[in-house]
Amino acid sequence: MEGKRFLLYEVWEPLVRFLHWFNCFFIVVLLSLGGILFFRSALNLSPATSETILHFHVYAGYPLAAGILLRWIWLFIGEPFSTWKDILPLREEQRRGLRETLLWYARGLRGRPPFYIAHNPLAGIAYGTFFVFVALQVVTGLILNQIPPLPSGERRPPLFLILPHDTGFIVILLYVLIHIPMVLIHELKERRSIVSAMIHGKKVFEEGEREGIERYRDLLKG
Ligand code: HEM
Repeated sequence: MEGKRFLLYEVWEPLVRFLHWFNCFFIVVLLSLGGILFFRSALNLSPATSETILHFHVYAGYPLAAGILLRWIWLFIGEPFSTWKDILPLREEQRRGLRETLLWYARGLRGRPPFYIAHNPLAGIAYGTFFVFVALQVVTGLILNQIPPLPSGERRPPLFLILPHDTGFIVILLYVLIHIPMVLIHELKERRSIVSAMIHGKKVFEEGEREGIERYRDLLKG
């Protein structure tokens, strides 16, 4: 009996992979330092220590600002699978993938996992929301950084500025806490090597799926 023939197909171009891990690194640094600042009173930090941590937090914000700006630009000029057209479920096949993903979750991950090529259509909505929230987080961070400290060395920015930044912190933290286990679940159930694909770019498909992949890729170009 002849075995199945598999196909390694590049879905993530090098820049998208690089930005994924680059932004991931700076988000972890920013969330960690931001978390310490958030609990500065409970942790009994002196104004001088808080100020030093804040400086590192601000320095880590600049590379993330560059990384997210580049990812936004790539949503419009990247390879088809890197663009907003693959992220937003605008096409019928993407909406079918979205319904299949929701049904698969509702069935308790039993049965055949949903078929999608690059971004999972349900995750795509989360990625789009994430890109908006990170951009807003960078903007509110840059504005907050313009507010000088009080003569005592303490910082007390107005609530209408700190509230959106703190809300963004919680949304991004929740995103990370959900994203990592979901990726691992999809990796284990779908067996398409999605995690290593975020390193070398290529996902595993069956040879017979090549035509469908290329047709979808051409549709995204249009
Ligand atoms: C701070 C942590 C992380 C953030 C902010 C993050 C963010 C993202 C974003 C925005 C995407 C969409 C890709 C794009 O179009 O740019 C994505 C996809 C992906 N991420 Fe992460 N990520 C994080 C951590 C991780 C980790 C630790 C892993 C591996 C275990 C991982 C594996 C993946 C995979 C496999 C995809 C593609 C999923 C799919 O096929 O839809 N991510 N991530």
